[in-house]
Amino acid sequence: MKNALITGASDGIGKDMAIILSNMGYNIIVVARNKQKMEQAFKNIKNCTIISMDLSIIENCYKLYNQAKDIDILINNAGYGVFGEFLNTNLDDELNMIDLNIKSLHILTKLFLKDMVNKDRGYILNVGSIGSFFASPLLSSYYGSKAYVLNLSLAIKEELKKQKSNVYIGTFCPATINTNFHKKAGVKGNVKGLDSYKASKYAIDKMFKKKAIIIPSYAKVLPFFVDIMPRILITKLAYKMQIKKQEN
Ligand SMILES: NC(=O)c1ccc[n+]([C@@H]2O[C@H](COP(=O)([O-])OP(=O)(O)OC[C@H]3O[C@@H](n4cnc5c(N)ncnc54)[C@H](OP(=O)(O)O)[C@@H]3O)[C@@H](O)[C@H]2O)c1
Repeated sequence: MKNALITGASDGIGKDMAIILSNMGYNIIVVARNKQKMEQAFKNIKNCTIISMDLSIIENCYKLYNQAKDIDILINNAGYGVFGEFLNTNLDDELNMIDLNIKSLHILTKLFLKDMVNKDRGYILNVGSIGSFFASPLLSSYYGSKAYVLNLSLAIKEELKKQKSNVYIGTFCPATINTNFHKKAGVKGNVKGLDSYKASKYAIDKMFKKKAIIIPSYAKVLPFFVDIMPRILITKLAYKMQIKKQEN
C-alpha cells in the first residue's frame, strides 16, 4: 500500500485532501498540532497515522521526516495568513508564519525529494495561493510567503525535468476556499469562496496529471492578467479587493 503524508490535516483543505487520498487507497499520515481534531476527523479511517506536531518549529520537520520516511506523496499544506497593515501586524506572528509557510515547506520538500529522486518516483504538491502571483496590501507577508512556494516549486520542477526524473512537484494556487483560514488570519468580514472538498479533489486529480500549477475555477485567468498589467496597478487592485474583507 502506498503512503501519503499531508501536513495541516486537522482542518480545511488538508483534511479534505487526506480523506480523498484515503478513499483512493493510500495509507495516510496526517500532521497538525491539534490531535483531537485529527482523531475526530479520521476516526473511521483504518490506515491512518496521526502525528501531532508544530511544524513552525524547525527541528520538528526533521523529526517528521525521520518518522515518516518512505512516502509516495507529500502534500505541504500547513500554512496560515496574517491580515492587516504591515505597520500594525504582529512581528512574531509573521515570523512564525514564515517559519511554517516557507521554512518547513522548504525543509520537507528537500528531505523527501532526495529520497523520491533516488527511487525515481513520487509526488510533492506544495500549497501556494493565487497570492503566489502578485503582491497584496493587507496580506503582504502572507502573499510574499506564497510567492516563495510557487517560485521554489517551479524551479525545482525544471531541474527535475532536465534530469529526466519521474518525480512530480507542483503548486496548488487557489483563490478563496471556504475554510477557517480567513477567520484565523484575522479577517473580520465574511469571505466566500469555493467548497473545500471540491477544490481539494480538483487539486489531487491535477496532481496525478502532473500539472505544474493548479488553479481551480475562474481564478485560472488571474495569472494571465498579472502578466500583462503593470505590477503597481495590480497592487492597487489587490488593495481594493482586500479592504473589502475589513469592511464586510
Ligand atoms: N482557504 C483559502 O482561502 C486558501 C486560499 C489559498 C491558499 N490557502 C492555503 O491552503 C492551506 C490550508 O489552508 P486552509 O484554508 O485549509 O486553512 P485551515 O482550515 O486554517 O487549515 C490550516 C491547517 O494547517 C495546520 N497548521 C497551522 N499551523 C500549523 C503548525 N504550526 N504546524 C502544523 N500544522 C499547522 C492547522 O492545524 P492545527 O491548527 O491543528 O495545527 C490546519 O490543519 C494553507 O497553506 C493556506 O495558506 C488557503
